[in-house]
Amino acid sequence: MSESLPEQSQQYSNQIIGSRIVHHKVISSTMTEAEQLANQDCDEGTVVLADNQISGRGRFNRDWISAPGKDLLVSIVLRPKLSQLRYVNMAATIAVADMAKNITEQSVSIKWPNDVRINGKKVAGILVESALDNSTLKHAIVGIGINVNSDPESDPNTGGNSTSLFMETGEEIPIKSVLDSIFFSMNELYVKVLQGCSLTQMWAGNIDTIGEIINVKYGDSFVEGIARGVDPEGNLIVTKPDGSDITLVGGEVTLKDAFTGT
Ligand code: BTN
Repeated sequence: MSESLPEQSQQYSNQIIGSRIVHHKVISSTMTEAEQLANQDCDEGTVVLADNQISGRGRFNRDWISAPGKDLLVSIVLRPKLSQLRYVNMAATIAVADMAKNITEQSVSIKWPNDVRINGKKVAGILVESALDNSTLKHAIVGIGINVNSDPESDPNTGGNSTSLFMETGEEIPIKSVLDSIFFSMNELYVKVLQGCSLTQMWAGNIDTIGEIINVKYGDSFVEGIARGVDPEGNLIVTKPDGSDITLVGGEVTLKDAFTGT
């Protein structure tokens, strides 16, 4: 394990996120290491950063494939109240979306609940894992994977509807500048969350899913309908073909265009 460069620690020393940085060249998953540190009572805001992951994981137990040394792979240990947990995901997603807008000057949006997309192609994913002790939140680990300088469309392992900051700008982007941007804005948002603010309005304003005909997989179930909006907690309200509404706490959305090819 190698600790961060001193200047990195100094740079984030006056904020929660990045209070300590543990940097690995290669790791199994930054999520696993961050969880171990959290269980050892590390400081809130401790960050595990890696140049490469052997077993990176995404939502729904999927693999998260990244290009060694070219992408941003980070997990952050936070300790909000259980009632604030939903805003942690929002803070991370807004911070990543703002960074992508500033760097690419393209159309950036959020696919509910936490994919960041540029012109409809996924550039980043966020994974929040949490540990509860009865009804108290012990910690939350926020994992962020951003395609920075890779070419995910030409990679047979990722392919699909993905892009990177490099693909959108034609320029190599210093990973450190991406990190600075998301740490500073996520920290500002997280402080607001700790002060009791809701981030739902800001987050919902970036969601491209609203108004679309969608298919959502949640648990072992599927629902098709029109995404009507999000409630104050950030849950997705879907109107089904029979006119009734269903409120979804989580799930995987597929936009109709994507699943019918129309
Ligand atoms: C998603 O499914 O879209 C979420 C992907 C989250 C990937 C990141 S990369 C850094 C951290 N470590 C992991 O193993 N996963 C998260």
